[in-house]
Amino acid sequence: MEDVTQARVDTTLRAAIARFHQAGIDSPTLTARLLLAAALHKPREWLTAHNDYLLSSEQSDAFEQLVTRALAHEPLAYLLGRREFYGLEFTIDPRVLIPRPETELLVEQALEWLRQPSPEQAAHTVDAIDVGTGSGAIAIAIAHHAPTAHLIATDLSAAALAVARLNAIRHRVDARIAFVQTDLLDNVPYRARVITANLPYVSSEEIEALPPEIQAHEPRMALDGGCDGLTLVRRLLGQLAAHLLPGGAAFLEIGASQGPAALRAATAILPAAHIALDQDLAGLDRVLSVVMPE
Ligand SMILES: C[S@@+](CC[C@H](N)C(=O)[O-])C[C@H]1O[C@@H](n2cnc3c(N)ncnc32)[C@H](O)[C@@H]1O
Repeated sequence: MEDVTQARVDTTLRAAIARFHQAGIDSPTLTARLLLAAALHKPREWLTAHNDYLLSSEQSDAFEQLVTRALAHEPLAYLLGRREFYGLEFTIDPRVLIPRPETELLVEQALEWLRQPSPEQAAHTVDAIDVGTGSGAIAIAIAHHAPTAHLIATDLSAAALAVARLNAIRHRVDARIAFVQTDLLDNVPYRARVITANLPYVSSEEIEALPPEIQAHEPRMALDGGCDGLTLVRRLLGQLAAHLLPGGAAFLEIGASQGPAALRAATAILPAAHIALDQDLAGLDRVLSVVMPE
């Protein structure tokens, strides 16, 4: 006899969609379908063809747990445990910031720079250093698309580096990336052709105004850029001369309103460098680029 407590796929989805609507969750239908597919370990398309499938009690419990977390505004990437970045899928959890599409610009710029011919590499040099690597998204995307490049990736957070190492293994670039737990570039006795950094750049004041998905769930250490958001960017600018090879470039992500202040800081700290602001696809200032003299 059929267990009357078992729920069908379609009724389960309808109930979750209604709860998400009521709670003001973004894209309630898509969210419900992605979460149910995850709870059932099936592709999302499977649900459409199996509307009348009866969930086991374990499957219903697993789905209910995900729904409860979504209702508490936990980001979808944490619920699903993954996010795509630069065409690669990364394992993501609350130990790391969720990689954002605008950060793909840093990867493009670094790869373009690495495509230029380079002199024979001396001792204590690497192709690229990624500072504040988080999930490893930038470093791993660079290593994947520059298959002979050797990189260093740093982060202050040991927890974030554990996730980054997993992602490097997943994408088979772990042999070419050294992960280092340190403050920015402290105690990294290497120079690089390229340095990338998407450091925390939200000002302490702006953090309070962030949506709950970000403010309550993403690591504070990945967001807080101090008083005006540029505290870490300024400190890193002060370390670039000692860590870039002559003619090397740094690409630092900044907030859309920080262009003029970032430009002033870079010009004051590195007067001999060529400094520019680059815009993202939305036309907003997004990257501070610094090229050292030859
Ligand atoms: C905005 S997140 C970016 C993560 C990743 N690079 C990305 O683009 O998705 C900033 C990262 O910088 C790290 N971080 C914060 N302060 C740091 C410091 N002083 N030195 C090194 N890393 C730091 C955080 O732990 C976090 O992983």
